[in-house]
Amino acid sequence: MNRQELIDILSDDKKNTKIFEKADKIRRENVGDEVHLRGLIEFSNICKRQCKYCGLRSENKNIERYRILKDELLVYAKNAINLGYRTLVLQSGEDEYFDTDKLAEIVKAIKEFDVALTLSIGEKSYDEFKALKQAGADRYLLRIETTDKKLYEEMHPNASFENRMRCLYDLKKLGYETGTGCLVGLPKQTTESLADDILFFKELDADMVGIGPFIPHKETPLAEAKQGDFWQALKVMALTRINLPDINIPATTAMETINPNGRIIALQSGANVVMPNVTSTEYRAKYEIYPGKICINDNPDKCRGCIENKIKSIGRTISKEKGFRKNN
Ligand code: 5AD
Ligand code: FES
Repeated sequence: MNRQELIDILSDDKKNTKIFEKADKIRRENVGDEVHLRGLIEFSNICKRQCKYCGLRSENKNIERYRILKDELLVYAKNAINLGYRTLVLQSGEDEYFDTDKLAEIVKAIKEFDVALTLSIGEKSYDEFKALKQAGADRYLLRIETTDKKLYEEMHPNASFENRMRCLYDLKKLGYETGTGCLVGLPKQTTESLADDILFFKELDADMVGIGPFIPHKETPLAEAKQGDFWQALKVMALTRINLPDINIPATTAMETINPNGRIIALQSGANVVMPNVTSTEYRAKYEIYPGKICINDNPDKCRGCIENKIKSIGRTISKEKGFRKNN
């Protein structure tokens, strides 16, 4: 699809059902009916950045900060593997305590198990990305958030759009399976820029793309902003599937936060991945990127069972593989 076609579809809701059905069909033809589960470990909510939409931003003093150190982290990793996860995702704020040496040690320890490992720990230098790749990391998630440079800079004080782009191209060059994505419904975000986001995913040749609605958090400068629209976020996701047929696309937690059936609807509109939390209940509420996050009172066993049942109820199966991008 070209830019104008994307803009037309994004600004007209009449064809939504058709787009969702088409994305579902393309998903089935290209990546099949298997759903890949990735076990998510949110290991630190300490962050040096000030993203205006995010509850973990350093200026939020109304949050209890935590760090899960290596030994405890490995307990969650082991438990997740016992529950059947074949991919683990380590996610955190940009927490300088975890320098490259500490991270590399954790990566090596996890890669002793037979799992694929994804990092989602923010912007780093080429050499840092390289060291973590050499330690054994397979994949990296770093959303561009928006390709509108002006909006990006407004949303991210003291950060550079160019550096974020540089990171994504470095990750690709280093051979990571590279994930990116965007927020949908940021204040002042246009349909034109959402079309550009999709074109960018293609330009980068992203291996994974995560998309979610913006959800205002009361301890941020965007407390009073309007929440992103579920169907618009779903449409950006569906259009991503139509334009990048063979990639991995998660049904994101943010989708389920604003629609009680959000992940299942997403799985039927182009998504083929779910990322359940595998840390213990005590940390979940504290990793409050946005309010109303699902499963904050649940434990890893409960989430695994719950999501398996939901997936099976729509006639899909759980993959037993690591779930790399099919054509790579
Ligand atoms: N609403 C929705 N998603 C958010 N993220 C951060 N803050 C919010 C929010 N308020 C998303 C960002 C980030 C990912 C980990 O969480 O896109 O990349
Ligand atoms: Fe956690 Fe449903 S996925 S309870």
